[in-house]
Amino acid sequence: MSVKQRQLVIAGNWKMHKTRPEARELAGAVRDALETERDLPAVVLCPSFTSLEPVLQVCVNSPLAVGAQNMDHRDSGAYTGEISPPMLLELGVKYVIIGHSERRQFFGETNATVNLKLKAAVRHGLIPIVCVGETVDERENHLTDAVVSRQTAAALDDLDAAQLSGLIVAYEPVWAIGTGKVCEAVEANRVAAVIRSTIGNLYANRDLAASIPVLYGGSVKASNIDEQLAQPELDGALVGGASLNAEEFVAIIRSAQKKVQPAAAKS
Ligand code: PGA
Repeated sequence: MSVKQRQLVIAGNWKMHKTRPEARELAGAVRDALETERDLPAVVLCPSFTSLEPVLQVCVNSPLAVGAQNMDHRDSGAYTGEISPPMLLELGVKYVIIGHSERRQFFGETNATVNLKLKAAVRHGLIPIVCVGETVDERENHLTDAVVSRQTAAALDDLDAAQLSGLIVAYEPVWAIGTGKVCEAVEANRVAAVIRSTIGNLYANRDLAASIPVLYGGSVKASNIDEQLAQPELDGALVGGASLNAEEFVAIIRSAQKKVQPAAAKS
């Protein structure tokens, strides 16, 4: 499969921002800007749990999909404060972010819990966006490739190739998240290739690895997205802060849209 055949994805991770009315307004502004557009990348809005329902309502019959920022791996039970995959599915959620570095850093998530959540997403047909990435210390100690490979392999433990068909991976260097320090596009491209070769080696299947979209995340803005999208190994972005502003987020989506159109025109 050629690089251009992979789906481009622009996902907005709203983190712990926006009340329900604010979320409705932001989703509405993005929808209004894109409603009549064709040849868009996959656009995914990931609001907080409490705003999933209003955002889903705003996105009905629009090109926008909705994702959760996290979930538990179990279906139900005495797990106070948790949200299960069936609860998300029942709302109409299609995507779920798994293993974001803030979950790993502040909420005790490990490679093992990421693996359990990925298996749960696959079991329930949610499209997983699995986040991997090194800290600044790991980068300075030349551990980037080892860390990213280990996180990728651990996330995929016990999954067979057929279960990877909807998988999306996001390379998010921790030092680039929310800091304004964007990873150089050529370097992000190199690490995306490391992620793909890890998957290719694990399954002895380079075509499988070549079919999986790898996004870049970390201080993405309208002013730096073009460089990332110009890289052959990168297929879009997981956007935090810049996704909270409709104009900025739509500008990022339009940059990706420019990449979608030539492929669509050919078919
Ligand atoms: P940022 O966050 O764009 O604000 O750096 C990205 C993310 O955490 O997914």
